[in-house]
Amino acid sequence: MLGSTSIYCLLLLLMPSASLAVYDHYRLPTALEPQHYDIRILTHLNASDLRFEGAVRIDLLVLQATRNITLHARNLRIDKSGISLTGGEERQCLSDMDIELNEVYDYYTLHLCRDLELGQTYQLTMHFESSLNATESGYYNSSYTDAASQEKHYLAVTQFSPTFARQAFPCFDEPPWKATFNVTLGYHKRYTGLSNMPIRQCRKHESLLDYVWCEHEQLSRTSTYLVAFAVHDLTNAATVQSDTKNRVIFRNWLQPKAVDQANFSIAMAPRVIGYFEDLFRVDFPLRKIDQLAAPTHRFSAMENWGLVTFKEAKFVHSPKDLQAARDGKAKTLAHEYAHQWFGNLVTMKWWNDLWLKEGPSTYFAYLALDALQPDWCCGERFIGEDLERFFLQDSASSARAISREVKDPAQILGQFSEYVYEKGALIMRMLHKMIGEEAFLLAIRSYLSVHSFGNVEQAHLWQSMQAAAVEEKVLHPDFNLGRAMDSWTLQGGYPLVTAVRDYETGSVSLNQTRFYLEKGLREGAATGNCWWVPLSLVSQNDPDFERTRPQSWLECPTSAHTVELPLSTALNEWFILNPQVSVIYRVNYDEHNWRMIISTLANDPSFGGIPGYNRVQLMDDLMALGAVKLLSYDWAFDLFEYLQREEEFLPWKRSLGLLDRLGMLLSGRQATEFKVYMAKLLTAPYSRLPKLGAITSMSSTNREVSLMRLIYAQACRYRVDDCVAQARQAFLRDSNGFLELPADLQEVAYCTAIEQGGEANFQHVMQLFRNSTNAPQQGIYASALGCSRNISLLGEFLDYTLQSEKEEVSDCYMLTVKTALTRENVAIEAADHILSHAKRLTEKFKKRQLTSLLQTLAGNLHRPEDSARLKEQLKDLKQFEEPLQKALDMVKVNQQWQRDCSGDFSQALGRHI
Ligand SMILES: *[C@@H]1O[C@H](CO)[C@@H](O)[C@H](O)[C@H]1NC(C)=O
Ligand SMILES: *[C@@H]1O[C@H](CO)[C@@H](O)[C@H](O)[C@H]1NC(C)=O
Ligand SMILES: *[C@@H]1O[C@H](CO)[C@@H](O)[C@H](O)[C@H]1NC(C)=O
Ligand SMILES: *[C@@H]1O[C@H](CO)[C@@H](O)[C@H](O)[C@H]1NC(C)=O
Ligand SMILES: *[C@@H]1O[C@H](CO)[C@@H](O)[C@H](O)[C@H]1NC(C)=O
Ligand SMILES: *[C@@H]1O[C@H](CO)[C@@H](O)[C@H](O)[C@H]1NC(C)=O
Ligand SMILES: *[C@@H]1O[C@H](CO)[C@@H](O)[C@H](O)[C@H]1NC(C)=O
Ligand SMILES: [Zn+2]
Repeated sequence: MLGSTSIYCLLLLLMPSASLAVYDHYRLPTALEPQHYDIRILTHLNASDLRFEGAVRIDLLVLQATRNITLHARNLRIDKSGISLTGGEERQCLSDMDIELNEVYDYYTLHLCRDLELGQTYQLTMHFESSLNATESGYYNSSYTDAASQEKHYLAVTQFSPTFARQAFPCFDEPPWKATFNVTLGYHKRYTGLSNMPIRQCRKHESLLDYVWCEHEQLSRTSTYLVAFAVHDLTNAATVQSDTKNRVIFRNWLQPKAVDQANFSIAMAPRVIGYFEDLFRVDFPLRKIDQLAAPTHRFSAMENWGLVTFKEAKFVHSPKDLQAARDGKAKTLAHEYAHQWFGNLVTMKWWNDLWLKEGPSTYFAYLALDALQPDWCCGERFIGEDLERFFLQDSASSARAISREVKDPAQILGQFSEYVYEKGALIMRMLHKMIGEEAFLLAIRSYLSVHSFGNVEQAHLWQSMQAAAVEEKVLHPDFNLGRAMDSWTLQGGYPLVTAVRDYETGSVSLNQTRFYLEKGLREGAATGNCWWVPLSLVSQNDPDFERTRPQSWLECPTSAHTVELPLSTALNEWFILNPQVSVIYRVNYDEHNWRMIISTLANDPSFGGIPGYNRVQLMDDLMALGAVKLLSYDWAFDLFEYLQREEEFLPWKRSLGLLDRLGMLLSGRQATEFKVYMAKLLTAPYSRLPKLGAITSMSSTNREVSLMRLIYAQACRYRVDDCVAQARQAFLRDSNGFLELPADLQEVAYCTAIEQGGEANFQHVMQLFRNSTNAPQQGIYASALGCSRNISLLGEFLDYTLQSEKEEVSDCYMLTVKTALTRENVAIEAADHILSHAKRLTEKFKKRQLTSLLQTLAGNLHRPEDSARLKEQLKDLKQFEEPLQKALDMVKVNQQWQRDCSGDFSQALGRHI
């Protein structure tokens, strides 16, 4: 007896803690399915009292009998006594003791005293309140100052993606728990309330004078991160109806002073929706879209169904926008509308596959821009830039897979990197080029219609592609496309394919290995990395670079692989792998083949039919092979000779970028020779352009402006011909109001004038900056000021921007300091300014901005003491933790290059002066 009593006591002691074991899996339990939410939110926009209170009723279907309910809630004060659960047999009992929180995953768990019965539906009701979030997540406050009255107007708007819906109402905040939503908003009647759906009806608030409750129509099955609402007094700049199937009504909300700057976005959005509807053959399902330009926004924009929000600066256009900025905004808009299908209609199951919405949205935005704004040439340029960043970033051993497991909110947020977007876009492009237009569109259309209102993993996309490719007879039915594509999304990095031709038999033997910039080459086998590389090959006698369908595959793991050249290829004719760089790998050829390619580029008036993307990649590959010492830099410099005749933007941008980056690492005589070389290289393109000082207005086409800007900037920097004199002349006339240079050229002229013109010009431009109220114009001045050689003036300006409370002004710090970092005059002092104000920077800027700043900073550092200094100055600043690691890696790469490669580089350069 004694024994059994003691066992009983032990059980008593253990049981409560066992049954209350904290649930700490990173995914919600799957016992309950939320089917519908009824949300009521009352918003108070009193300047000293920015808050909301609400109630949610969730209909829960029991998929597995369970005695607890776990959902997400964060920063919400939940009134426990107000929680109720009805349905099933009777009212469930809930007592105070029964709540449990998990702060890692933001879980809120209710323990019940009876099981919820399988197959039954219950209604869980919760009441909550919170202040509006001050840092642009969840339901947050924003504001603008009225230009006339100087009065501050507050507004409230949501940013739920990726994990912030839980800050606005308790919910099952994971993408696969799609449900319907009835949203009802309460607010003072002077405001406008918006949600995903149109208003159904409004009525007076039961007790608050002049307050209303407005009920919105039911939103169809949607993930929580796409639910949205806003309460504001912005102005509707225009109501526009699309001519698409559902005749979608667009409204466009902005603060009064910005309403006349949104014409482009207002007109573009309905066109984009129409374009995608035609392309995807799936109708946009809603009847209205509100575009809301929020004065403050955590991201550039958010694709919420029916209520797309933008950071105001990304929605308005100005004649003073640089062309790249203008194109960037158009890209953002098109991207958000592609999301209406990729993301909103068909949603990834989990954030590991974020690329499934970001990749296609990025890629299809490019196609939309090419179709709708053909004279802007955006798609091609954006792809060129994505390729550039990809080949650089993914050459680091730290390169991660775009599809990778993420668990807590911070990791989920971390997925939203340019890298995932851009590589995702390149993967879509690879599929497009690989299986061809017909099969690709067939696949996309079937994928979207089969998975409408559902959730997917990347395997679903592969299956659609495979089925369509087989149907169109592009792929053999036995080929496993999914396995091949997984090799590109489930690992980082990319292969270097070595292609060596046997000049007797005409066959080419191929192998692959992962390309690392910082470690030199490692055999693929040793790292375990390999890829399924689709191979297409073009030869000189038949240079059809449109033929991007694979003729065969380099498999993974690789077995000995050879491809046969077309019989007609003569010994003195080259071949090139990867037409249009539709697949993301590098190639190294045998020397004879390289020599023939170089000779064609140098001598053939039409470059032998080799298209721009391939010319760019040939340069990039040779520079990369130089950096890992597989080939001497001589090869790259031999290839650069052809640039004398190059007239396209992308090849110039890439080559100058590659050269400048290494030029920054040289010193002494090597640096001097580098400048001589650059001046020589730039002479021909400079001589083909009109004189900067003679330009009165922009008569040239859009395509030309970017090339002009690039060549003028570089030519003036390296003192080519009369560039500096021309720039000063243009500056004088423009800055005194005698002409109006286009923004892109204004920046070049001002930069040069400030660099060459001493204190007076600096003061003058600083004055212009202070007088200006146009943010893009201020940006131009700010970048130009970064060209100064006068560190005390520059320091003064940097301090001024950093101290400003205005975001437009403090953002200019970044522009100025980054320009300074990339110019040798004051790069060191600019770096000092950054490091000695590091703490202030973390208060002002987001991690994304800090990362990019530190990358620019690290770009020219290569001494051991540089690393030590970075570490010392930034060690205690949490926001710098991740950027710092990347920056240190870069300094290491630079160090290695300086030690191992700069000699070869300089000698090769010397031979080409
Ligand atoms: C705003 O809140 C303050 C303090 O709670 C209160 O005194 C004031 O009357 C409120 N103003 C309005 C317009 O409700
Ligand atoms: C909730 O109940 C399930 C069984 O339905 C159990 O597996 C889980 O551990 C419980 N969670 C908590 C927090 O008690
Ligand atoms: C706003 O959201 C952030 C991010 O989740 C959180 O850290 C902060 O505590 C929230 N509250 C306020 C008032 O800013
Ligand atoms: C949001 O409200 C907080 C106070 O709660 C305030 O400090 C912040 O400036 C407000 N944000 C904006 C953009 O007005
Ligand atoms: C949600 O709203 C629709 C009208 O849009 C209404 O028919 C439906 O009954 C509402 N659902 C609930 C659960 O109240
Ligand atoms: C690939 O082929 C090249 C040239 O034949 C050879 O030098 C290299 O070792 C091979 N690499 C691998 C990983 O087999
Ligand atoms: C800036 O504005 C002031 C006052 O309106 C004016 O006197 C001054 O000339 C302006 N400066 C420049 C450089 O435009
Ligand atoms: Zn996106």
